[in-house]
Amino acid sequence: MITAALPYANGPIHIGHLAGCYLPADIYARYQRAQLRDVKFVGGSDEHGVPITIRALKEGVSPQVIVDKYHALNKDSFEKMGISFDIYSRTSNPVHHKTASDFFKTLYDKGLFEEKETEQYYDEKAKVFLADRYITGTCPVCGNPNAYGDQCEKCGSSLSPEQLINPRSTLSDAVPVKKLTKHWYFPLQNYEPWLKEWLLEGHKEWKHNVYGQCKSWIDNGLQSRAMTRDSNWGIKVPLPDAEGKVLYVWFDAPIGYISATKELTNQWADYWCKEDTKLVHFIGKDNIVFHCIIFPSMLKAHGDFVLPDNVPANEFLNIEGEKVSTSRNWAVWVNEFVADFPGCEDTLRYVLCANAPETKDNDFTWKDFQDRNNNELVAIFGNFVNRSLVLMHKLCGGKVPVFHNAIIDEDDKALMDDIRSAKDKITQSIEEYRFREALFEIIDLSRKGNQYLQKKEPWKKVGVEGGQQQIDNCIHLSLQLTANLAIYINPFLPNTAKKMLHMLKVVERMLQWKNAGSFKLLSVGYALRAPELLFRKIEDDEILVQINKLKSNSTVTVTEQKAESVPANDAHAPVKEQIVYDDFARLDLRTGKILAAEKVEKADKLLKLEIDLGFEKRTIVSGIALHFKPEEIVGRQVVVAANLAPRKMRGIESNGMILMAEDNQGKLYFVSTIEEISAGMIVR
Ligand code: MF3
Ligand code: ZN
Repeated sequence: MITAALPYANGPIHIGHLAGCYLPADIYARYQRAQLRDVKFVGGSDEHGVPITIRALKEGVSPQVIVDKYHALNKDSFEKMGISFDIYSRTSNPVHHKTASDFFKTLYDKGLFEEKETEQYYDEKAKVFLADRYITGTCPVCGNPNAYGDQCEKCGSSLSPEQLINPRSTLSDAVPVKKLTKHWYFPLQNYEPWLKEWLLEGHKEWKHNVYGQCKSWIDNGLQSRAMTRDSNWGIKVPLPDAEGKVLYVWFDAPIGYISATKELTNQWADYWCKEDTKLVHFIGKDNIVFHCIIFPSMLKAHGDFVLPDNVPANEFLNIEGEKVSTSRNWAVWVNEFVADFPGCEDTLRYVLCANAPETKDNDFTWKDFQDRNNNELVAIFGNFVNRSLVLMHKLCGGKVPVFHNAIIDEDDKALMDDIRSAKDKITQSIEEYRFREALFEIIDLSRKGNQYLQKKEPWKKVGVEGGQQQIDNCIHLSLQLTANLAIYINPFLPNTAKKMLHMLKVVERMLQWKNAGSFKLLSVGYALRAPELLFRKIEDDEILVQINKLKSNSTVTVTEQKAESVPANDAHAPVKEQIVYDDFARLDLRTGKILAAEKVEKADKLLKLEIDLGFEKRTIVSGIALHFKPEEIVGRQVVVAANLAPRKMRGIESNGMILMAEDNQGKLYFVSTIEEISAGMIVR
């Protein structure tokens, strides 16, 4: 039973999600299927909790609209990236509501909850209890007037609502008051002795980062945790006196794994209730406590279910040296990647696995994406497969040549040994969740294939006495290695494996893991197809577009980017001489949208822009051509100096100017806002 964390359906998934959890889960699932083990791989959307309601509030729509939108979007992104869920479910499904509700009722009937009344903040205008995130006020640490009840995003302090100065409800602006409310608490401390034995003693083999976090939680002492919340979005608490109360999202969501399996198959209990089930949860590191301590304690308390055998959580993936920030749009969104790089899904899988944050946070850069594609996939793996097939067509008449045992030599033997021993190494690495290491082994094996061809130089044996037999052996082994590579690469790069099957004209059954290490995968005399390229080269300008897109779409502010990209002592330009308000008021600044952009002939710095100002369209010539390509900036929002006297540039009349930010290295940035703004608004 393989699970991958249910992402909140409150936004698109980014490549950090893929690297942290979905890609490793998928590699593991595909590998297990190739082993012909009875495996189910489930996932789905997490549709409850504060993250959803906050998003709905921000967008001014109902939570249902939010979850419908992002469930569909994320399901599609996963499909396109080849994440092979047996089912991608969602926690709004009736099966799940029933399963989670029954689970709660079972614990309740066993008398395992503590009922407690506590004071919580309440909004008397909106008539609801307020989660910490719904309360804002002034940060006591830095004075930020918009700090949240759980955290100040300006200075990073973690807060409680009591600490806020002038707290207000984000729902109605009312001053929150304290009011008594009843909730059901799960006494985690009662499970401490059991957790010590089961986890700390019994699972020392878990990854260090996971084990360490669990140990420190347990060593610090566990406490009762409320498993219900005051809200009207979620699964109703199945008790008579629980109006306006729902299950805590971290109570219901992991049960979603069970519900998804129920939805998938009537045999669901085989995967959840049998002693010999191996349950593995793939997650990111922020989910460790929930999957290693809280959910297992719930499962133990319930009594009908198996416990996780392993929880191989990954650390985080940074992007271009910066932490991913969804609120500031510092991320590479998967739906955008698949649109921008159709056919390169395997390249992304490769780079994210080769760079996976398995033991520490790691960094994704577009340069590395390009380099690994061009220098490893194209130049090593793809090159070997291509050469083997091309040489077979040239030197062996398009058929798998005979292998002449009598003339087998040291190089052949060494290569055969490498193929055989690779199997054990790759298998063990995958079984122990070290996917980077396994992938490295596979690339290394193809590198050995290249070296073998280079050493044997079969193209030089044509017409030489006894040469054809040597050619035959070399090509025969290279082709068998190619078939082996297809088996090995399949869990990692499934599209690539498919293409290889097609060229080798073999059926999918060949990819079964038991076939790996064999030299009889392709039979002698069998005619193969012409080779097609497995990977295409990725060019400089493609990644430049991505880097610019990342930087210009992000609200990671210009000053922050600057602070990190230039030496600390770098001077800022002095502020200009003072002006009075009337000077400023003479400027007419408007919001606009770039409708079209094209290069100005014989002027390498200029772009001719068509700008929508709401009330009219303008032509503006702008000196940004060295920084942005026309096609990348169409649709961007800009601020326009609208009452600037017209000016002719290269024969084109320019009517105004667009405002850009420039760092002290001369790089330009759009002055972005997160919201979509319509054209024609006054800026002042
Ligand atoms: N939605 C959570 C997150 O994105 C993960 C939930 S995993 C599950 O962090 F176990 F609860 F399903
Ligand atoms: Zn602060």
